[in-house]
Amino acid sequence: MRSQRRRAGPIAGLMLSLFFGALLVGTITFDLFLAPHVPTGAPLPYTVRIPAMGVYKDTITGGASYQLLSLRAERGRPLEGKHARMVQAYEDLRRPPSTALLFGLATGIFLLLFLFAAQLRAQEPTGTLLWTQLGLFGGLTLVAIGGKALLLFTSWSAMWIPLMAFSLPVTLYLGRRIGAAATVAGAALVSLLVPVDLTLLLVLCAQGLTATAFVSPHRNMRSVLLGTLAAMVVGVVSFAAVSLLLVQYVPLGPLGAGDWSLPSILNADLIAAAGGPLVGGLLALLVAPLARRATGVVSPQELAQLANFEHPLLRRLSSRAPGTWAHSLNMANIAEMAANAIGADGQLVRVGAYYHDLGKSAEPNYFIENQTGNNPHDEMPPEASADAIFSHVTSGVQLARKHGIPEAVVEFIYTHHATDRLEYFWHKIIKSGNKAGLREQDFCYQGMPPLTRETGILAICDAVEAASRTLKNPDVDDIRKLVRQIIFTKLEKGILDESGLSIADLRKIADSMVESVRSAMHGRVKYPWQEKEERQQQRHQQPEGSAPAPAPAPAPAPAPAPTPAPRKPKPSEGSIASPVTDEEAEPLKRRPRPALRSKPTGSHEPAWVDSPELGVDDDLASDELRSARKLGSRDE
Ligand SMILES: [Fe+2]
Ligand SMILES: [Fe+2]
Repeated sequence: MRSQRRRAGPIAGLMLSLFFGALLVGTITFDLFLAPHVPTGAPLPYTVRIPAMGVYKDTITGGASYQLLSLRAERGRPLEGKHARMVQAYEDLRRPPSTALLFGLATGIFLLLFLFAAQLRAQEPTGTLLWTQLGLFGGLTLVAIGGKALLLFTSWSAMWIPLMAFSLPVTLYLGRRIGAAATVAGAALVSLLVPVDLTLLLVLCAQGLTATAFVSPHRNMRSVLLGTLAAMVVGVVSFAAVSLLLVQYVPLGPLGAGDWSLPSILNADLIAAAGGPLVGGLLALLVAPLARRATGVVSPQELAQLANFEHPLLRRLSSRAPGTWAHSLNMANIAEMAANAIGADGQLVRVGAYYHDLGKSAEPNYFIENQTGNNPHDEMPPEASADAIFSHVTSGVQLARKHGIPEAVVEFIYTHHATDRLEYFWHKIIKSGNKAGLREQDFCYQGMPPLTRETGILAICDAVEAASRTLKNPDVDDIRKLVRQIIFTKLEKGILDESGLSIADLRKIADSMVESVRSAMHGRVKYPWQEKEERQQQRHQQPEGSAPAPAPAPAPAPAPAPTPAPRKPKPSEGSIASPVTDEEAEPLKRRPRPALRSKPTGSHEPAWVDSPELGVDDDLASDELRSARKLGSRDE
């Protein structure tokens, strides 16, 4: 599992930059090693482009004038006209390329790629993956090869190079930040093909960054078309602005000359400034399915199929392990809401929740939510129990892969417990003397921590859903404390370090989960203001004419406030689809803290307890037998 998530560190970034840098320098300069074209009246074998960076000194009229020019000597036509000598001089200068030119180009490209890799490493978690970086560097190389071919063999404007066919799918499947970085790197690379075209660089950046800003994080293809239209407008405006800045006029092409022939249209920069994004956007729609497959992203249609309860694996889970299925359904609702709250993929999280405990369908009786009587763990040594519980992850992964479940969904199976320790069995074997000399690692899951925001949400939600079922008559503050404890604990253990979840995300997730759990418990939970309102209503509903309640006489000494009697649950107030009965479930907050982790009384520090799914050390301290019964659901 881990090999699929190999990270690219600085050394890998350096190696990638050197390798692809050498490839790109070769791509850009290979034609310069050919001898310069000798103008014999024969057609040019390639297009020569002089970007608007050269200073032209007019020696023909004898006057001294300076002008910024961008010249293009078209392939297939003989070199002639008043600029023929200048093109010749330019070609003589570049062919063969000098050591200085090669060194400058190589250094520039290496720096560009190295900075791009560094930028990717900052984009946790997707940008840091080796496969992602390899794919992006390969994509840049393909853009350079395609662009070079267009520049050499056609006389079309360089702005037809459809950079957005690369940057839009990247944005769709790897996010806006990576898409923006890919846009800038691609634009810089393409501008070096000319060799350095400032106008091209600025226009491509403006087009690409506009399009990436429009792309919806939910991969809506309409947003791609909208981004394409916006990029077309911005392309024309930015080209006009840069042209005015550099040459103080806007080359209108056919609009000015009235020549609407196809070559004239294709050669016109102004038209290409709008046409390039259009071609790029349309190509992006064609490339998107390939990019989706390469990045392992699951399409909404596939997710809808996977979420169908008639799916054979879901039917297997619901029929063999109904308790686990109820837990998965509850989780799906809570986790999807939390994902939507932070703009993550709620549909993917919902599907992940359905399948995360799929492996329990192999041996459902090892898990409390599916037990109807005997608990097999009562008769098993702790290490065998631990193995039985671990197996729900490994068998779940095997089962899902065997049935062709996409890896993005399988990932939820091997990340939802990460490398958590089975506290209950670890403490049980310690208490029994650990004669076999087993190590702590032997009681830890062999999964991996969540590497996406979606899997991070599910890991939190798994604990929240299981723990919320242990709350008895909670108020909103109880639920909030529980959710915060679970998130704090996962943060402390470093489980969410690589998930890409920010502190702001975690706050929104906590708020959403509190509200979801409260809603799921509907009648059972009230806000403090609701309780206050109810009390006021009861007071107003006293029969008219009845004597007002006497004002309390001042007490000679402050008496302790009477402890309210616990509210008796109504028959309809069952716990939320929980297989754990009220007798089995004990409020987490009321369980004694284990000596190992207890905080001093009155401490205001957050209470670092184990995640309730693993918090059986609490149970152990209070009632070992009952803890074993709870184990299946909270310590799976
Ligand atoms: Fe699990
Ligand atoms: Fe679970």
